[in-house]
Amino acid sequence: MGTQGQHGERPFAIVTGASRGIGAAYARALAARGYDLLLVSRDKARLDQLASDLISRHDAAVYLEVMNLAEPGAAHRLYVAARQRRQHLDLLVLNAGFGLFGDFTAMPLPRIQEMLHLHIQMNVESIRLFLPGMIERLSGGIITVASLAGLFPVPYLAEYAATKAFLISFSESLAEEVRAFGVRVQVCCPGSTATDFHATAAFRPKSPLTAHQPAQVVRASLAALESGPLLVTIGWQGPLMEWLARCLPRTLLAKAAARWTRPHP
Ligand SMILES: NC(=O)c1ccc[n+]([C@@H]2O[C@H](COP(=O)([O-])OP(=O)(O)OC[C@H]3O[C@@H](n4cnc5c(N)ncnc54)[C@H](OP(=O)(O)O)[C@@H]3O)[C@@H](O)[C@H]2O)c1
Repeated sequence: MGTQGQHGERPFAIVTGASRGIGAAYARALAARGYDLLLVSRDKARLDQLASDLISRHDAAVYLEVMNLAEPGAAHRLYVAARQRRQHLDLLVLNAGFGLFGDFTAMPLPRIQEMLHLHIQMNVESIRLFLPGMIERLSGGIITVASLAGLFPVPYLAEYAATKAFLISFSESLAEEVRAFGVRVQVCCPGSTATDFHATAAFRPKSPLTAHQPAQVVRASLAALESGPLLVTIGWQGPLMEWLARCLPRTLLAKAAARWTRPHP
């Protein structure tokens, strides 16, 4: 994916959860690389501010969709919104997500359902809708933002870790299905990153590792998109955690993770 779309127009990308954090960093990095953008989140004011910044700095065309992506039918609405703007999509960045921390039995059921919709249903349905067009044109990319937490069981973040594990497995399978069609599938697995994520999840990590910056996550992800690994981790900590997750027994990993996440003394 260069800086020119298929027919000489600028390439076109969607970023979900673009209002802040890692999603906003994807939007900034892609605009700087010459992409036009469709940015999605529920926060119109933040999206407006980001869009005007990107338009003035990079002369990008920036379209906005203020949308709750956890609602049923969101993927279809996003697909229709994208097709109204452009015939083809070059890059789909599925980044919107949130954490839910604590005893699973104390979590409100609507919030649990919201996460299942946002992390799984929305992402799977979006890929199902956008991927055929990419396969037909023998070009395109899909980045799904999962997490290092998807590589092992994480007590007190149980549903979060499991939905991210789903995204990792799904992306790894899909990448192989579409490889021959010139479509790149990547699953980006950041570790702790300095965003609003932890405040939203009501989670204060006790991990001794320093948090990444969103721009660092995005740099690693976009650098790997053309020819890097399909599962991207960040810095030196990411590959180390990935190696530990693959080598150690899962019961041991769950116990070790609980030492960092246990909410009770
Ligand atoms: N920060 C970390 O430590 C970390 C580590 C590993 C993976 N991740 C993953 O990185 C991704 C981005 O998170 P972040 O760290 O950048 O957190 P963040 O700063 O809290 O940003 C989350 C983004 O997701 C959007 N979002 C959440 N629920 C939504 C909904 N129902 N509909 C539409 N948009 C929604 C938010 O937009 P609005 O609130 O404006 O709607 C916001 O733009 C998530 O998938 C997260 O799981 C984060």
